[in-house]
Order: sequence, then structure tokens, then C-alpha cells
Amino acid sequence: MSIILLRANQVRNLKGVDIEPHAQLNIIFGENASGKTSLLEAIHLLSTAKSFRTHRIQHVIQHETDKLTVFGRLQTGPHTHQLGIERSRRKTEIRVDGQGVNQTSVLTRHLPLQLITPQVSSLLEQGPKMRRRFLDWGVFHVKHDYLANWRAFHRVLQQRNAALRQHQANSQIAVWDRALVESATSITRSREAYLSGLMPILQDYSETLIGQQPELSFQQGWPQDENLANLLAASLPRDRDRGHTQYGPHRAELVFKFNGIPAQEVLSRGQTKLFISAMQLAQVSHLAREQGLRCVIMVDDLAAELDNRKRAALLDLLLSTQAQIFITLTEASLLDIPREQGHKMFHVEQGEVEERLPSQAVVLID
Ligand SMILES: Nc1ncnc2c1ncn2[C@@H]1O[C@H](COP(=O)(O)OP(=O)(O)O)[C@@H](O)[C@H]1O
Ligand SMILES: [Mg+2]
Repeated sequence: MSIILLRANQVRNLKGVDIEPHAQLNIIFGENASGKTSLLEAIHLLSTAKSFRTHRIQHVIQHETDKLTVFGRLQTGPHTHQLGIERSRRKTEIRVDGQGVNQTSVLTRHLPLQLITPQVSSLLEQGPKMRRRFLDWGVFHVKHDYLANWRAFHRVLQQRNAALRQHQANSQIAVWDRALVESATSITRSREAYLSGLMPILQDYSETLIGQQPELSFQQGWPQDENLANLLAASLPRDRDRGHTQYGPHRAELVFKFNGIPAQEVLSRGQTKLFISAMQLAQVSHLAREQGLRCVIMVDDLAAELDNRKRAALLDLLLSTQAQIFITLTEASLLDIPREQGHKMFHVEQGEVEERLPSQAVVLID
């Protein structure tokens, strides 16, 4: 899949974007505050109906206007699809191939997207929620019944938690436990299977980018050798006290270590950025291998914290994933592009996005 046409209106400071991206590599350059990240935000809206910078859509909608729209035409093999999103403060409208759609996941299914930003280190540094999201992104795209399972699990979990808080009888709670164990088992199996496919690729990418291979421990959300049904029963008094369920896949965690030490304690900032990029690129490659599905990868401010050699190594790996790539840079000269590599350059200035011929913008290397 690749985006062959992108239109955006009233997204931040952008002025009527209308571009035809390159199927492989797109370089977006311009001064600070020109609108580069906003352009990535528009693409993100098309995949998730959300911004990655804020939960408040009114901050993304252009000042003095009341709604934003983004439209994209995608090429997926021989097929084209049209995705459209319109968001105002009150309403979100999604259209896929001209039909109204009420689930964001339909967009995400069409447009699998990975974003690498300078703030990306939060994936290792913040709580487990971000890492579960990372994991679930992959499983969602690889295993098509996963979303339904995941939703079923969370519905039951909420019902069990409500029952705990309402001091319902043990027999009543046991009813939820059975359903909970069933979907918990299925979610956990899918996650394990996904990780065992992903890890060899991640080892390889991590070696390429930072010269070291991580060890992963996947914590499923309850002690490895214990039976979840028994645990739920045994921890019922404590669950009642706390008003929520302590064990289950909603507590899963991914821990990455290098030589036995947690990644976030040994990696420098630059290495962290590269390692997390390796994690995301591994997901993209895995999806291409498993599903034959091409993703979009966006790298905001690629040059930040990386020297010339590391930028080149990251670009190399990005290109090897076969994804459609969007990279932002303050100056086009910050990245050397191999001479034979097809690409397009877009210059952003005060919200205007214009295609530039590569020769006008960049130094090509052999
Ligand atoms: N809702 C909005 N309406 C209009 N302009 C906005 C809005 N939100 C932010 N801006 C402006 O958009 C500009 C572009 O921001 P950004 O995309 O982050 O630039 P870059 O990534 O190129 O540094 C900034 O000058 C910012 O002040
Ligand atoms: Mg920016």
C-alpha cells in the first residue's frame, strides 16, 4: 500500500495541501515552524482519526476555522482506495471508498502507519501501556480476529470490575472469570506467537543500528507458571479491596535488556532512538513478510540526535522495509540519498507544501 494522493485542509497552519507522494521515499524539508510535523499529523489523522500531538482536536483544527479534512488515495496492489476524514470539535466523519464508516479501525486496516519522532524514547521510558500498544499494533495487523478478542476481553474486564465494586456475590464474579480466562488465553497466545516472529527481525535490526542484540522478556500479566483461573479466585479478596482486577493481559509488559541490564538504563539518547526505530521497523518488515502488506513509516526530524553515519544507516534500513517513507528535516542537505534511489522532495514554507525537483534540493551521492 502507498499513498498516491494526499489532500489536507485546515490542519494547523497548512494551506490546502495537495501532493502526490512518491511510492518509496518522500523528504519533507523546511524551517522550524513551517508545518512539517503538521503534514505528518495530517497523514496520521488519515490512519487513526487522531493527532499524535494532542487529544484536543481543536488544537489541530486551523485557528478561526471549525473543521479539518484530510483525503488520501491509496494504491494497494492493483486496487485504489479513497480514505477521507473530517473532524470538527463535535463530530468525526470517516469515509472509505465513498461510504460512511463508524469505526476508526477501518482506516487503520487500510493504512498501517508507524511514526518515529524525537519524543520516541517514551516507548521505553514510560509505563507499560505504551509497550502494550506497540505489541497490539502488530498483533492487530497480523491476526485479524485479534481486535474482536481484545474488545471482548476489555468488556468482560469492565464488567468484572464493576461487579467487584458493587460487592456482588463470589458466584456472580466467577461467571465473569470464566469468560475472562478464555479471552485472556487467546490474547496471550496471539501476543506470544507474534513476538516469536518479530524477535529475530528485531535482533537483526538492533545489531545493524546499535551493534547489540536485546533480550526480551514478555510478561503476560500474571505469573508465568500459574493458572489464571486459580489466581483470579485466590486474589478475589484483594481485587474486591482495590475495586479492580490485578491479573490478566491488561497488565502485560515487555522488558528489553542488553547484557542483563534494562535498555533504558544502558542506552544513550541516540542509541535509544535507534533501538526504538529498530523495534518499529521490525514490526513493519514482519508485516510485509507475514501479510505482504506495505506500511507507511514517518520519521519526524530524522537528523535530531543522529550523526551522519547513523542517519545513513537508518535510511538504509528504512528503505529495506519496502514501506512508503516520509522523512522530515530542517534542511534537505542533512540526509544523503543514494543516487539510484527514487524519491520526491517537498519543501514546506509557512504552511505551503510544494514539490521540488530533487536536483534543486539535495546532494546526491554515489
Ligand atoms: N491550530 C492551528 N492553527 C494555525 N496554526 C497553527 C495551529 N497549531 C499550530 N500552528 C502553527 O503551525 C506552525 C507549524 O508547526 P509545525 O508543523 O510543528 O512546524 P515544523 O514541524 O515545521 O517545525 C507553527 O508555527 C504553529 O504555531
Ligand atoms: Mg516539527
